[in-house]
Formats: sequence, structure tokens, C-alpha cells
Amino acid sequence: MKNFIDIKELSKHELINLLENALQNKKSKTKLQNHLSDKNLVLFFEKKSTRTRLSFDIAIKQLGGSTTILNKEDIHLGNDKESVNDTINTFGLYADGLVLRVNDHKTILSASKLSNLPVINALSNLSHPCQCLAGLMTLLEERGSLEKLNVVWMGPITNVANSWIEAFKKELGFSLNIFCPEIWFEKYNEKMKEYDISTDLDDIVHHRINDQILAQADAVITDTWKSMGEDINSQDYDLIKEFRVTEKVMKKAKANSIFMHCLPANRNEEVEASVIDGNNSRVWQEASNRLFVQKEILKLLF
Ligand code: CP
Ligand code: NVA
Repeated sequence: MKNFIDIKELSKHELINLLENALQNKKSKTKLQNHLSDKNLVLFFEKKSTRTRLSFDIAIKQLGGSTTILNKEDIHLGNDKESVNDTINTFGLYADGLVLRVNDHKTILSASKLSNLPVINALSNLSHPCQCLAGLMTLLEERGSLEKLNVVWMGPITNVANSWIEAFKKELGFSLNIFCPEIWFEKYNEKMKEYDISTDLDDIVHHRINDQILAQADAVITDTWKSMGEDINSQDYDLIKEFRVTEKVMKKAKANSIFMHCLPANRNEEVEASVIDGNNSRVWQEASNRLFVQKEILKLLF
């Protein structure tokens, strides 16, 4: 595999292997390996990042490589400055791989076509595959298998949610149900149309919290209501409020149901503080698993 852009590009077998290897590597406590010796990867951020930046930087170094981290503000890229293509070509002159966090998913797609180097999606407006893998790894770590698990996504269908949808479509054994206001589903469908992606989610998207489905949930996941570069008006805010992950919601799920969130989180907006800071929250475990899944992605590509 040359690039890691989206979950849909991996086979079921590759996904399961990646998750199991990540788990095994975590258990073995083997930090240093040499898959990336003599390799330098450029980590480029058009949007802010704490976890992705740190975990990729450390993962690459633990695999024997080095990193060059660039923020959009530091380089010439811009509408009236240097083009994306020239920027990507320049990265390719010096680096051995590209880890990109971009405003428009199309930038990642063109980078992967333009450049001979491996390209990794570190989040776009469309997807966040690394985050979804960390969530899947957390589920696997908690339950020993993904078979017959029920996942509920609450709130807007964000880039993270989209990667969960792709993982669900791989038939890894878990079910997915999404609770979100109709208008957010329409927004999601419009975005998918823009990227020429067909969606067929009517069976799994619900515009009310469905207590029967919630009662079977092994995991409840949400994301910020305002993804980077997006905003919501007060009318939409009133609609999304109904989909906050509260203690009341978690009490309706299975007693051992875990709560996950990509972070950063807004306490008492998309999730009640007592949920994210409570016993069933696995947000820190999920964030720490970013390191392990990303090491496996790097091993696959190099
Ligand atoms: N979850 C995640 O990608 O976090 P950062 O935005 O901090 O990288
Ligand atoms: N949906 C969020 C994820 C942040 C990790 C965003 O795009 O801002």
C-alpha cells in the first residue's frame, strides 16, 4: 500500500491485522523499532492539532525516523502565494513521506497523485481515519473482539463519523447507528455529493434518540459540534442540543457501555462533564491508542 487516505481503501483483513498488531505492540511495551531509519517525514498542518501532531511525531521517532513539522502559517502556501501543487512538489524534494492535515480533502487526493511519496491523511474536512482506528482499537482492547458490538454515534456526522461509517461498511462485526438531527444528515449528504461519494445510510441514521437501540449500545461516541473551520447558527444549535451525551443517555445504554470522543471536547456542550470524566469514559485510552495505530500505518507504508 502506498498511501493511507481512507479506511475504505483497506481490506477487512488489513484492518483487523492492523488493530491486532497495534494492540500487541502496546502490550509488548516495545517502543523502539527501525522501520523508518534514515527516513524523514514532513508533517504538514493547515489546521490546529495537539494529539495528531504529537502522536505522529513520537511514533515516527520511535520507528527510527525523523520529522519536519510545518504549519500553514510558516510556509508560502496560499491563494495569492504558492500553489498546493508546487508546495507538495517541494515537500517531495526532501522528504520520504507526507502526513497531511488539510482543509479540503482534495488536497490529500492531489498530493497522493502528484507525489511519489507515501501520503497519510491526518484529518481532512471529509475524514479522520487515524482517529477511527484508535477508537476501533479501544473497543477491541475493551471487549476482546468487535463481533456483535453495537456502536452509537450521537451528534453531527463529522469527518470522524464518516470514517466510522467507512469502517462499519467493512463488516468488521459491529453495528453502527447514528442519532442526529435531519438537517445535519442533509448537510452530510451534500458534502458526500460534492466528493462524489454515494451514501446509503437511511437504515442507520435516526433523527431522534432511539431508546431501544441505545439499550444495546456497547459504545457511545460523539464529536465536537463545531469542527475546525465550521460554525453553527443558533437555530441548528437548538436542534443539536437534543443529541448531547448526558448521564441520562449513558444510563440508557448497556451498563458497561464506554464513551469515546476524538478530543478536543467541549464539556457540557456535546458531552456532559460527568460523562467524559466518568468511569465509563475511555477518551484518554483512545487518545493514547493513536500512537499505536499510527505506528502500524507507518509500518504498512514503509
Ligand atoms: N483527535 C485529534 O485529532 O486531536 P488533535 O486535533 O489534537 O490532533
Ligand atoms: N471533527 C473535528 C475533529 C477534531 C479532531 C474537527 O474536524 O475539528
